[in-house]
Amino acid sequence: MKEKISAAFLAAYNATPTIIVRSPGRVNIIGEHTDYNNGFVLPAAIDKAAYIAISLRDDDQIHLTALDLNETFSISVADLKPVGDVSWPNYILGSAAQFTKRGIHLPGFNAVLTSDVPMGAGLSSSAAVECATVFALNHLLQTNIDRVAMVEMAQKAEHEYAGVMCGIMDQFASMMGKENQVIKLDCRSLSYEYVPFNLEGYKIVLLNTNVKHSLASSEYNTRRKECTQAVEWVSAHHPEVKSLRDATVAMLDEHVLPKDAVVYNRSRYVVDEIARLQDACNDLQQGNIAAMGQKMFATHDGLSKLYAVSCKELDFLVDFVRNRPEVLGARMMGGGFGGCTINIVQESAIDALVAAVRPAYEAAMQLPLDVFVASIKNGTEII
Ligand code: GLA
Repeated sequence: MKEKISAAFLAAYNATPTIIVRSPGRVNIIGEHTDYNNGFVLPAAIDKAAYIAISLRDDDQIHLTALDLNETFSISVADLKPVGDVSWPNYILGSAAQFTKRGIHLPGFNAVLTSDVPMGAGLSSSAAVECATVFALNHLLQTNIDRVAMVEMAQKAEHEYAGVMCGIMDQFASMMGKENQVIKLDCRSLSYEYVPFNLEGYKIVLLNTNVKHSLASSEYNTRRKECTQAVEWVSAHHPEVKSLRDATVAMLDEHVLPKDAVVYNRSRYVVDEIARLQDACNDLQQGNIAAMGQKMFATHDGLSKLYAVSCKELDFLVDFVRNRPEVLGARMMGGGFGGCTINIVQESAIDALVAAVRPAYEAAMQLPLDVFVASIKNGTEII
């Protein structure tokens, strides 16, 4: 990858890049749509990543090349703003803009981007680009911003330049990941611990529906509003409740259910999921992967029925593996409306499972099924 991106940089800008940064995509074991509700998540960085090669310039021009798309884009630092007709430059520009917003002088730069994180698969390909950009510029500008602050800058890039009001999970996992560990992150305090992820004979298998519904970002923002509405109704009676993290099922039954069944379902899922993650973490720490897997199925059912962010393709894949003894757990992963399911599968049975699920999925949905076996790797780093 290093040679490939260096060669592309040389071809585009007639120089070698000053720095190449790798920043990975992520999986999330459990704890979905909990991050922006101040709950917990359990993500990890994976062995698929975005790579950015950058050199600063003497003027204020930003020149970008997307190697995989064979596209280029240019803008000046003075004109930095979200661009409308293409999406990929926004992740880089939004990340660069965070430096100027902090009052840091940002010169122009040349960059080449490449990535093997599939786009729209729910593996946080955009967070990977944002984290790679922030990390590279922090290094080149010698701004010494710490990693957690860089995570927040990358998240703001997504809010301000991609228009998705995402939580902090994706950028946190990409930046902070550690090999063979999952991150138990408290999204309220941003305190975190690394939990060893020893599956002994099992692997994380990602099944990509190859569906990306255009609804994803608008529905995502709607879910956030529904959660905020539930908090408003509860906090009118319990002022100490600042987010769904502080709410109980009894509070929702009393103050949300009589008002709106949909808002109740959304908030009920979140309160259940925050508790379920704690239980699943205990299972993991005790080595009881089967019990953790059952909770993943329960998460899927909540996401599908109460939170309504699944789709028929994701439901098909989870239902297909549900009663197979070689699959300990499975669920849709990420924002929803397409992307991947995450499955905990007995290593020796992966080939047979793929041989069964692929033709069944392709026949039922008339779409190709992509399969990745993911391993857990380090977060953002210079290569
Ligand atoms: C997307 C967002 C994350 C998180 C997940 C759902 O990936 O970017 O912040 O909310 O959806 O858990």
